[in-house]
Amino acid sequence: MIDNSAAFETAGYGRYPVSHLPLRIETGPESLRLVWDDGRESEFHYLWLRDNCPCASCVSTLTREQLFEICDVSLSIQPSEARLDDDYLTIQWLGDGHSSRFHPGWLRTHCYSEQARAERQWQPEIWDKAAIEVCLPKYDYADMMQDDAVLLRWLRKLRDCGISLLQNTDTRPGTLQQVAERISFIRETNFGTLFDVRSKPDANTAAYTTLRLPLHTDLPTRELQPGLQFLHCLENDASGGESILVDGFRIAEHMREEYPDDFAALSRLPMDFYNKDRNSDYRFRGPALVLDGQGTVIEVRFANFLRGPLDVPADQVVRHYRAYSTFIRLTREPRFQFEYRLVPGDLLVFDNRRVLHARRAFDLQQGQRHLQGCYVDRDELLSRIRVLERSL
Ligand code: OGA
Ligand code: ZN
Ligand code: ZN
Repeated sequence: MIDNSAAFETAGYGRYPVSHLPLRIETGPESLRLVWDDGRESEFHYLWLRDNCPCASCVSTLTREQLFEICDVSLSIQPSEARLDDDYLTIQWLGDGHSSRFHPGWLRTHCYSEQARAERQWQPEIWDKAAIEVCLPKYDYADMMQDDAVLLRWLRKLRDCGISLLQNTDTRPGTLQQVAERISFIRETNFGTLFDVRSKPDANTAAYTTLRLPLHTDLPTRELQPGLQFLHCLENDASGGESILVDGFRIAEHMREEYPDDFAALSRLPMDFYNKDRNSDYRFRGPALVLDGQGTVIEVRFANFLRGPLDVPADQVVRHYRAYSTFIRLTREPRFQFEYRLVPGDLLVFDNRRVLHARRAFDLQQGQRHLQGCYVDRDELLSRIRVLERSL
């Protein structure tokens, strides 16, 4: 019987709990089929199994990286024997006689049947005003800093909802760095490691004025837009300056249903985004809606004030402007907008490649407004979640 504490023995640091056991093997010409105790079936191709052999000559025990290369065996590789031995799938290969042993938890986790692949597919929790007003994920700063279980809950919510509010955060400048480093490296940019959002006489971006900021993502001017954006409120006695957040995935979903031609144009026609300063000149060209191979929207890239002149074929110019106007009009619809006034100690964190943010204009006659911001890439968030999941 499998001992779950032995779950680390397969290549890599993953944990593979054994929730089901394989009962029998049916072998075919190119693949075998494992039948599990809950009736599920997993087809594994011989090539795939040979490629994933976890033995010490196929995977380095030091780096946990693969040494074996598939071109060193025949594409029609076959087992001379495949059996279940102590619930492990054990294979002896024809030809070189190599043998491979596969942990059942690992096999179940990596099953690539249609059903298993669908179950593994990440699904965002998409929101509009009504939904987020009820379920805005809120966490306490001290709890999160002290307790890895709270950290993990916060990060999973951030991944799935794309937004969260950390409350009662210490308002000493620089605290944000410690919070961000609870996740991982900060993404440094030409605006600094931490940046101060307040009205500055020598403002090099609209954020550093008292002006209204329309809904946008930060740094669409970069090949990789920062994943998480942090806005930590240190002081907010100004009148105005309320924050507005919109789930870009929700707008995209609505556009796809109601304005399919506009949706197609925004996902196909590139836009140019510019940010010019005395010593930097960043530009990126890409569509506002980024789709994956299945047509799912995986990213929104959007800031009206950071655009360069449109550069598309002449017969697409009006097409583009129609789609772009539709998108902006939708972001302005109150039913999609979550409005919130930050109070000192609030730390708003959101997925900058999904959630658009804005602020109303503010007036400093009543008092100061000072936020600190920074970015952490999505990769860092996901990596931190996986590492926490190994032990929690
Ligand atoms: C920014 C920004 C919002 C605010 O700095 O990118 O959008 O509330 N700031 O000042
Ligand atoms: Zn091997
Ligand atoms: Zn911004």
